[in-house]
Amino acid sequence: MRAMLLLLLLPCVLATSGSILPPPGGPVHCSLATFDCTVTNACGSFNDRETCHASQAVYPRTEAELVAAVASAAREKRKAKAVAKYSHSFPKLVCPGGSDGVIISTALLSRVVGVDVEKKQITVQSGMLLRDLVAEAAMAGLSLPASPYFYGVTIGGLLATGAHGSSLMGRGGAVHEYVVGMRIVTPSMAGESGEVLAVVLELSADDPDLDAAKVSLGVLGVISQVTLQLEPLFKRAVTFLTNGSDADLAEMVDVWGLHHEFGDIMWLPGQGKVVLRKDDRVDISTPGDGLNLGMFRDRPTSDIARSRLEEEQLQEKGSDAALCSVSRNRSMVAEQLGFGLTNDGKSFTGYPVVGYQHHIQAYGSCQEGPDDNGHQEQQLCPWNPRINGSFIYNPGLSVTRSKAKAFIKDVLTLRDLNPDAFCGLDMHSGILFRYVKSSTAYLGKAEDSVELDMAYYRSRVRGTPAMHADVFDELEQMALYKYGALPHWGKSRSYAFNETWGKYPKLGEFLDVKARFDPDGVFSSEWSDQVLGINGRSPMIPGPGCAVEGLCTCIQDSDCASGYVCSPGMLYPDARVCSIPRPQSTIAQC
Ligand SMILES: Cc1cc2nc3c(=O)[nH]c(=O)nc-3n(C[C@H](O)[C@H](O)[C@H](O)COP(=O)(O)OP(=O)(O)OC[C@H]3O[C@@H](n4cnc5c(N)ncnc54)[C@H](O)[C@@H]3O)c2cc1C
Ligand SMILES: *[C@@H]1O[C@H](CO)[C@@H](O)[C@H](O)[C@H]1NC(C)=O
Ligand SMILES: *[C@@H]1O[C@H](CO)[C@@H](O)[C@H](O)[C@H]1NC(C)=O
Ligand SMILES: *[C@@H]1O[C@H](CO)[C@@H](O)[C@H](O)[C@H]1NC(C)=O
Ligand SMILES: *[C@@H]1O[C@H](CO)[C@@H](O)[C@H](O)[C@H]1NC(C)=O
Repeated sequence: MRAMLLLLLLPCVLATSGSILPPPGGPVHCSLATFDCTVTNACGSFNDRETCHASQAVYPRTEAELVAAVASAAREKRKAKAVAKYSHSFPKLVCPGGSDGVIISTALLSRVVGVDVEKKQITVQSGMLLRDLVAEAAMAGLSLPASPYFYGVTIGGLLATGAHGSSLMGRGGAVHEYVVGMRIVTPSMAGESGEVLAVVLELSADDPDLDAAKVSLGVLGVISQVTLQLEPLFKRAVTFLTNGSDADLAEMVDVWGLHHEFGDIMWLPGQGKVVLRKDDRVDISTPGDGLNLGMFRDRPTSDIARSRLEEEQLQEKGSDAALCSVSRNRSMVAEQLGFGLTNDGKSFTGYPVVGYQHHIQAYGSCQEGPDDNGHQEQQLCPWNPRINGSFIYNPGLSVTRSKAKAFIKDVLTLRDLNPDAFCGLDMHSGILFRYVKSSTAYLGKAEDSVELDMAYYRSRVRGTPAMHADVFDELEQMALYKYGALPHWGKSRSYAFNETWGKYPKLGEFLDVKARFDPDGVFSSEWSDQVLGINGRSPMIPGPGCAVEGLCTCIQDSDCASGYVCSPGMLYPDARVCSIPRPQSTIAQC
């Protein structure tokens, strides 16, 4: 019965939504051709360890097919959501509302639409990978100054979450600052007949609605094309400077970005070390053809799995000393490898590494996936769920530059209480500090900000805490509540989005645009409503062990793992973290 129904439906889907078979290796898996689908992310697990369900997936190749897909979802009163080819966000941003929505994949919307060499602008379809975007720009003699450091993300997806690299110069470190035009497909109710349609809205550089669309969480509709303002192709020279003392970290973070166009700072709090990225634009004639391979280079699957296994063993029965020793070794190896930089595309021979912008700004060769013949490449990304590789929490926190110094001083004080507790961060390259400039984007950063990125171990077993997770939680809550930090839309854990909407001064403007572009909330979901403060529901999910999973802040011991108690922070008393009870002093204090 069901199969027959599908047979009847298929031709019409084929006609409207283009290629029927999804490309391999993506986040969408359907049980019947493109029907009855689950969607997940590149690491196979959203923040709550769940996947989500949709009744159908479509793979438009042209704007016309995209319009047809949006119109059909709206006509059938179904929820819809755009999802990128690989889909790298940790929160459930790509889940359509409910469980019978439509997934609109941009995997096949990946072409260059046009290059205007005179104006130094490129227009691409929204599903283009960052990797291809910067390569295409370079072929036209142009560079995109700022981007995330990982190139397996798409332009549509990275814009939606406000993704960034690091810069306080020019337009700054966030990619949405370079957007000068966009075409977005939105649902629309048409005229007398009451027919439901979809329309293409063209937003130009001076259109105030662009301030909503350039960081949109995907709730305004599906972006079809993006036009970016580029610059003439340039080179940059990078040197990583390691300093064995972090005494001046707060001051360094305050000023480093003012002195170096692409500067960032990696802090290894367990080791008390700072790695300054001295990274500046140089003349195109400067000799050098460096290539950034990142830290995934030449890592066979077996090596990635072994490295995870070692970390699991350390987490389960290791001592602080053992964890710290291994993380020191890993940092040393990374340093010897020039943190993934090569001088010639193959090996690292010394600083500075000079190379073209598109060869340095982003990396991620593990993302290529199966080749056209379906052969699996040796190199998979460390987080690929098919290998027992990396599985992490990856909070991103944005603190305004005006508050960063005081915040970092607090974090240094917290670290000094027990430096070894921080080795679990060092294990994953510590805390990275990057810069973005203030933005007109309604869901962007209203002030110049320092962006913190930290990653640490997450157990594959639900409810099992990482060593010293209480300290990482205290750090995060101090950032969120004492310093008003904003969680990264695409990375942070559920609990961090508690009342985030209240921190965006232009939220009202954003919601006004949303009401005009998508009045029926076709592109809204439970998650997007929660983080935008719609319907008054909180993104926190209470329940036993919820704090271990980052789904809540603990209020009672049962929110923690067994043997842990919900207690105030060591330094920041308002924090509520799950810690191992400290032995009570038996000597009476007089
Ligand atoms: C290894 C790794 C490294 C990272 N490095 C950085 C970094 O250096 N800096 C940084 O800021 N972030 C970084 N991130 C986070 C990443 O940039 C964001 O999660 C980004 O949003 C992922 O983009 P995606 O193309 O995978 O889109 P998805 O995760 O699939 O989607 C993200 C959001 O965009 C929406 N969307 C996608 N396409 C469209 C479209 N065409 N129209 C409308 N909405 C759309 C989706 O509905 C969803 O809401 C990193 C993530 C990983 C896994
Ligand atoms: C290293 O850091 C210390 C303290 O933060 C500072 O005094 C010193 O000048 C730095 N050294 C270099 C070479 O930058
Ligand atoms: C350090 O790491 C390297 C490479 O991962 C490994 O070969 C070596 O055995 C490690 N040394 C120690 C002391 O752990
Ligand atoms: C990953 O680990 C699990 C549990 O130990 C095991 O069953 C599975 O076979 C492993 N997968 C791979 C690809 O090694
Ligand atoms: C959620 O955020 C609000 C506003 O910052 C705060 O008052 C409240 O205590 C937070 N709730 C929890 C459980 O942290």
